[in-house]
Amino acid sequence: MKVAIFGSSGLLGSAVAGEVSKRGYECLRFSRRGSPTDWQNLHSEALPLENKEKVTRRMLDLWPDSIVNCAAVSSPVAVKADPAGAHITNVEGARNLAEIASHLGARYIHLSTDMVFDGTSYRYRSTDQPNPLNEYGRQKLEAEKLVLSAMEENVVVLRITLLNGNSPEGKRSPHEKILNALATGDPLTLFSDEFRQPCSSQNVASVILELLERSNLNGLFHWAGKEKISRYDLGIRILRRFGFNENAVVKRSLQENPGLSGPRPSHLSFELSPLQGKLKTEPTTIQEQLNELIVPHYLYQWYRENADDPSKYLPRF
Ligand SMILES: NC(=O)c1ccc[n+]([C@@H]2O[C@H](COP(=O)([O-])OP(=O)(O)OC[C@H]3O[C@@H](n4cnc5c(N)ncnc54)[C@H](OP(=O)(O)O)[C@@H]3O)[C@@H](O)[C@H]2O)c1
Repeated sequence: MKVAIFGSSGLLGSAVAGEVSKRGYECLRFSRRGSPTDWQNLHSEALPLENKEKVTRRMLDLWPDSIVNCAAVSSPVAVKADPAGAHITNVEGARNLAEIASHLGARYIHLSTDMVFDGTSYRYRSTDQPNPLNEYGRQKLEAEKLVLSAMEENVVVLRITLLNGNSPEGKRSPHEKILNALATGDPLTLFSDEFRQPCSSQNVASVILELLERSNLNGLFHWAGKEKISRYDLGIRILRRFGFNENAVVKRSLQENPGLSGPRPSHLSFELSPLQGKLKTEPTTIQEQLNELIVPHYLYQWYRENADDPSKYLPRF
């Protein structure tokens, strides 16, 4: 199988690329800027989704069997700052890739988010009515609809939740942002009334590989981790994992401090059936996700000199 991954330099896309090559499939990596290093000798190209003609031409040249779209302006703050620019990637780029996949007869896996919901309900099912509160959620919902109407078969829209994991640049995931804020002395404020059901990029990558291999699974699905946790408590668990004092983070209330991205859902959790019952990959606990985390390379020296108890950190490698 030849798999084209868009957003391959990101938190999730890099994990998917690793999993694709580990399983012996051909891996074609695309991102806006391309990858600085020729990681694992895998094909890598700068291919901005804004350039619709070039994207179409490259896909016709390479004719992949599957396309996985992890490319996005994935920060609600960045979407709010430039909604029109983000729309080109999050909505028009996603639709273009679906149309290309349909033309090629390729399987298409498109990533979406729990932020399509308003957070007023408990354990959302994929059949529940979305009601996004901010522009990021609205764009992701619009993309879902366009993708599912562009393809009648061989398509999955996978909604996922807050991602833990290790990103190539070490600046994307919750623990990377926390360690980066500690290193730069930025204030670290987390909400104790904002609940999520986090999963890990590695675990979602494994789900995506199963979805690529199982062409009988089509449509809209939800995936998350096993447990819910507040952003504040997740921050505390991350600090403990890396041997930092819990006082490093300030507890705040989301209700009293609406986020920079505009209104945010306070409570997002997913019902994992029917997908969970159909896959070999199991959702992971928060402890299992924490065990996967490493100190970003560029922070390692700082970490050794500044962690309250660096012996608590057991590197994975
Ligand atoms: N992270 C989360 O907590 C989370 C939660 C729920 C859902 N999701 C969804 O999961 C997917 C993956 O998110 P992520 O966190 O892995 O994203 P990410 O780390 O921010 O990476 C985004 C990727 O998209 C690429 N990209 C951005 N704009 C592009 C453009 N115009 N053309 C081509 N490539 C472009 C980036 O390339 P460059 O590096 O070259 O800019 C990068 O490879 C997204 O659909 C996101 O909405 C994420």
